[in-house]
Amino acid sequence: MNETSKPALAVPFPIRVLLLEQNQDDVELSLRALTHDGFSVESDGAWTSEEFEQKVHDNSYDVVLADYQLAGWTGIDALRMIERLGLNLPLILVTGMLGEEKAVQCIKLGAADYVLKDQLLRLPTAVRHALEQKAAREESARNTRAREESAANFRFLFAKNPIPMMLCDRETLRYLEVNDVCVEQYGYSREEFLQMRATDIRTPEETARLIEFLKQGVIQPTHAGIWKHRTKNGQTIETEIMLHHMDFAGRPAWLIAAINVTEKRGLEAQLWQAQKFEAIGQLAGGIAHDFNNMLGAILGWIELGIDESAKHPSLHGYFRKVQHQAERAAVLTKQLLAFGRRQILEPRNIDLNRSIRDVTGLLGKVIGSDIELSLALAEGLPVVKADPAQTEQVIMNLCLNARDAMPHGGKLEVRTVRAEIDDSSHQFHKEAKTGSYVQLSVCDTGTGMDAATILRIFEPFFTTKEIGKGTGLGLAVVYGIVKQHGGFM
Ligand SMILES: Nc1ncnc2c1ncn2[C@@H]1O[C@H](COP(=O)(O)OP(=O)(O)O)[C@@H](O)[C@H]1O
Ligand SMILES: [Mg+2]
Repeated sequence: MNETSKPALAVPFPIRVLLLEQNQDDVELSLRALTHDGFSVESDGAWTSEEFEQKVHDNSYDVVLADYQLAGWTGIDALRMIERLGLNLPLILVTGMLGEEKAVQCIKLGAADYVLKDQLLRLPTAVRHALEQKAAREESARNTRAREESAANFRFLFAKNPIPMMLCDRETLRYLEVNDVCVEQYGYSREEFLQMRATDIRTPEETARLIEFLKQGVIQPTHAGIWKHRTKNGQTIETEIMLHHMDFAGRPAWLIAAINVTEKRGLEAQLWQAQKFEAIGQLAGGIAHDFNNMLGAILGWIELGIDESAKHPSLHGYFRKVQHQAERAAVLTKQLLAFGRRQILEPRNIDLNRSIRDVTGLLGKVIGSDIELSLALAEGLPVVKADPAQTEQVIMNLCLNARDAMPHGGKLEVRTVRAEIDDSSHQFHKEAKTGSYVQLSVCDTGTGMDAATILRIFEPFFTTKEIGKGTGLGLAVVYGIVKQHGGFM
């Protein structure tokens, strides 16, 4: 940039000059040189170094004009002081003569210029120059501050963002940065993350999926769907991923937002399940209701037939067989009614522990001696308002399933405990109303279930047992009864 195109820097008006000069004539000559050139000057003087320090410290001078040799100190000491105090204050040496060596030293120490006393006409230009430089330095410091501030703001927005975020190198897949909630979500410290790659928080299948995904070469900011990630303690979480291209510290990177949606998806699945059962229950319960009435009539007529056919043994036998089958149909229909919550309840105040003792007392023979039965029943439980027969049905069905799961024996434990559902636990049981409950658990050491089975156990007619062994109605009935009682599973 040449001299003429340079924007005019604002010269403070008037300028404040601090003079370090013993000779009053020299002081006047210097000031006159400046005012002669159009400067308006407010001047002040200092003599000792203490006085100088004091004045520059709490005042805002625009420029210092200093003789080299001062009383017991020199212009060099003044320059050092300015440097030590970190001031943006130009100092021009105005001196009778200055050896070359000293001149170089002064320039090195940051003197804005030096003007010989017999060339005072140069002084205005030197001052103008010094002021320009001072202004330019101020400007640059302001810019640096603004840049630093904006970088700090961005770092803060990233670090304190409530959405878990990470920066990942697009080529090596190494993590370059992670924010606070990301550390919280995954359980790895920031330092651990910076040693890891994107594949380290994934199962092998998800890694394969990631590699396939990256092959597509995503360019735009992208909603990348739901991914399964693994936390440090081995838990799998479902995360919804948003990706954005950016450069970070000179590397091509992804900015990734990873929102944990595990709970949300779990609740959605629960809700979906509940809606499905509602629909099936209505259908099955509706049919079962009509069917049950018809069966009632059929059984009534059979009764009459049996009475009338007493003298005809073969006819009598047929009636008995029809009756047996009709009764089986009635049992099935009742189960569907239970699932469809169409049972007629006769609720009483019951002691759940007592029902459990009654049922398990009877169960002894059914479950066989190679299954060890134990009860862990909490004392002093509140009474439960429930239909006693249906409650026993629930306990029975759960225990029979446990037996079926332990063909070679094992342990069966029935537990009760008081449970409070408050707002926080309410999140996990969408259907549960807050309040006081008694919790019944039936635990066995049997085969257990895989995830796909667990999803379907309450479905009517869902069974993994061979034909003739399972009806797939046991848990459907339990589900219907519990729901009809205002409980939940
Ligand atoms: N305690 C258990 N251990 C393992 N699997 C179980 C258990 N209880 C239920 N199941 C599974 O749930 C399915 C449905 O149970 P249920 O509705 O009682 O029907 P069923 O017992 O006639 O099969 C069973 O077939 C089994 O796969
Ligand atoms: Mg069963």
